[in-house]
Amino acid sequence: MTELKADQKEKRRMTTPEVRKLSKDSTFYVLGVVSRFAQRRDKNDNPFWDITIMDGEGQIEGKIWGNSEWWHIAGDVKYKMDPVSDDNVKKLEGQTVGLQGKVVEFREQNQYNFNAVYYVDQGKYPPHGFVRRSPVPAEKMENAFRELLEVCGENMREFLKYLFFERDFWQTYNVWPAAVSLHHAYVGGLLEHSLAVTRSAVGIAQNYRAGGFEVDMDIVVAGALLHDIGKLETYRLSPAPEMTLAGNVVDHIVLGYHRFMTLVEEYGRKRDAKKLDERRALAVGHILVSHHGCREFGSPVLPATPEALIVSVADELDFKLFCWKEQTSLLEGEKEVTEFVPSVQRRFWKSRSAKEERESPTPQSATLP
Ligand SMILES: [Fe+2]
Ligand SMILES: [Fe+2]
Repeated sequence: MTELKADQKEKRRMTTPEVRKLSKDSTFYVLGVVSRFAQRRDKNDNPFWDITIMDGEGQIEGKIWGNSEWWHIAGDVKYKMDPVSDDNVKKLEGQTVGLQGKVVEFREQNQYNFNAVYYVDQGKYPPHGFVRRSPVPAEKMENAFRELLEVCGENMREFLKYLFFERDFWQTYNVWPAAVSLHHAYVGGLLEHSLAVTRSAVGIAQNYRAGGFEVDMDIVVAGALLHDIGKLETYRLSPAPEMTLAGNVVDHIVLGYHRFMTLVEEYGRKRDAKKLDERRALAVGHILVSHHGCREFGSPVLPATPEALIVSVADELDFKLFCWKEQTSLLEGEKEVTEFVPSVQRRFWKSRSAKEERESPTPQSATLP
């Protein structure tokens, strides 16, 4: 055990964003909650594992190869684990682990190999303490949400209030993640994303209305706030975002449309006088099914109304801007261009800011004699 202690002392615990900035052959130690874990087999039938952990600031994914060491450390109890038979390893998702690893390069991209796994004391390092949260305070998001409801006419506003507050959607909607990875994959991510999409959509709609276009603001707001509502069924927090079975085999577009139409019917039965007009409900439903903008990304129909076109571009914009922010935050030193980002098929560029240039001293030669 003395060996293990000495080894641990050497390791400096890093955050996942710090690890992402390391160069090839660097070694590191991270502590976080496992958000994805799957055993696989290589061509010689030896086991290896895909693992993703998050630590409150981000996440990192990599591989644990068959020759790695697995340790259980809880108080004074320290022993080597057999990863194939140990019960803790079988249910590692949602648990806190320490990972010792090395940066390797594969096809000019950094990848992470973990050579030691430490199953730590879950009481001392509770998993929920490592779950990433939206940087926007919850109260600020709720206020923004309520302000957006005020943009709607009375009928639509009443329907949305019923759905979110009387039907208790809010409790889930305001903490739910928008994804397991890629974008807004943290507590409060779905609300943060939905608010950004709605604000953009309202702005674009106002712009076109000012130009004489007929755009129904109720449909835009309802469609934007609800566009990803199916994600309430496709993800769960345990405590990190995870995909549910329904998420894997049905997906949020179909689940969202189904849930929305069921609630429209329910609302109609309860509030007959105020029920949502069938065509207007369908116009919102159309946004739910078309918002991905093309069939390759899971929408069975393409946006066919001004409202659906607007929400679809606002959604895509927020996703891409989020990726730009995440990826460029990893840039170090003089670097201005990110690694290739497969999910958006591009590298991002963060130009050294105009502010920096303004602050640099004016060259003398610029002053005319
Ligand atoms: Fe979506
Ligand atoms: Fe979305």
